[in-house]
Amino acid sequence: MHADLSSAAPGDLVELEVGPVAHGGHCVARLDGQVVFVRHTLPGERVRVRITEQGKGFLRADAVEILAASPARVTPPCRFAGVCGGCDFQHVALAEQRLLKAAVVREQFERLARIDLAGIGLDPVVEAVPFPSGREDNGLGWRTRVEFAVDPETGAAGLRRHRSHDVVPIDRCLIASSRVTDAGVTGREWDAEAVDVTETSHGEVVVSVLPAQRARSRRIVEYVPALDADLALDARGFWQVHPGAATTFVDVVLDMLGPQAGERALDLYSGVGLFALALADRVGPLGQVVAIESDEPATAYARDNLAEHRQALVLDGRVDDLFGVPRHERSGGRNRRRASRRARRPVGSPLVPQSADLVVLDPPRTGAGAEVVRAVTALRPRGIAYVACDPAALARDTATVLENGYALAGLRCFDAFPMTHHLECIAHFVPAR
Ligand SMILES: C[S@@+](CC[C@H](N)C(=O)[O-])C[C@H]1O[C@@H](n2cnc3c(N)ncnc32)[C@H](O)[C@@H]1O
Repeated sequence: MHADLSSAAPGDLVELEVGPVAHGGHCVARLDGQVVFVRHTLPGERVRVRITEQGKGFLRADAVEILAASPARVTPPCRFAGVCGGCDFQHVALAEQRLLKAAVVREQFERLARIDLAGIGLDPVVEAVPFPSGREDNGLGWRTRVEFAVDPETGAAGLRRHRSHDVVPIDRCLIASSRVTDAGVTGREWDAEAVDVTETSHGEVVVSVLPAQRARSRRIVEYVPALDADLALDARGFWQVHPGAATTFVDVVLDMLGPQAGERALDLYSGVGLFALALADRVGPLGQVVAIESDEPATAYARDNLAEHRQALVLDGRVDDLFGVPRHERSGGRNRRRASRRARRPVGSPLVPQSADLVVLDPPRTGAGAEVVRAVTALRPRGIAYVACDPAALARDTATVLENGYALAGLRCFDAFPMTHHLECIAHFVPAR
């Protein structure tokens, strides 16, 4: 069906007019009617590209020469830009990166949730995440967690090439924080699979040499200004990588939900209890917070972090299992068929409440999935805050939330990952009138 559209093949050089940005860190162009996802370009540019991959019904390409540049194009600050797969937008002025991300959110909501965000007064604006130190945001030096890959042949530490297992040796990563850089992981040989560096908000730097079994044991502490509290976690456990992200997201979630004393709140995909702690403080001793998390070390830390809040209960397990709904796994082809054959309705946990006033969802990239979303709306909360690192998953789940009697009341978007195509969105849902 697609074979006769374009005869271009990987390795070919072609000239293209670049169209709009698309989710995933590339722009869309057309070659003989076929879609081409082009990296390292900007909308409106004319470029010479090399075809890098032939997909089913589309091509992938990378710019090799800019024939007519966009005014938003800049010289990448990093000399590994375009080679290392870590950053997508080093060639784009920071303000324009945020406009591109906003365009992606707008497009994903239109396509996957059939919502015109501007039409409901929620046209997305991608905001900077303020640094707790007050330092200026130039898009660099924000990453407090970096897992360096190690080249199995040479032992050199580096970062992976785009869509490849190849390791690009680097001397420094400009988006990493200076303390991560000063840990001295690059520029020496390692007998390891990878080396992970974490800088905490207290300035401690932990280097974990992987394989993970050996590394997963070091306790660290992160301070959250919005809560004026320290949370303990494993050095390799989940924590936001931008130093201002956790505190910013707590503030936004509390602002959206406005928890009241005595209310019952759920924190789903709760990690070490960041939002659970925020909610427990607000609902107070007469309220209740139930946190659900599948990673056992994280739930153990969450219990410690919430130890002074007797109104908080931490449940170990998958949200979908504990709600008694089929598992949500978004994977292609054979895996998806296998997953759907496995799909069964587990027996839910009696510890999950039958109703709630407030729900926070902060799932991994795959999103919560329709079944979990339906289970959440069935609790009839007066407010749901959905924290999402993938706008596509958020838009898909938004469609389900809306089908189940809720309306989108707010949307905040944050550039928690400058220079990359990633962003964080927080959506607020309330019962539809
Ligand atoms: C994006 S993190 C959010 C963690 C926490 N809310 C925070 O802000 O620190 C997602 C969390 O969901 C957990 N997780 C992934 N799949 C899960 C599932 N099916 N059920 C429960 N937790 C899950 C991961 O272990 C991870 O801690």
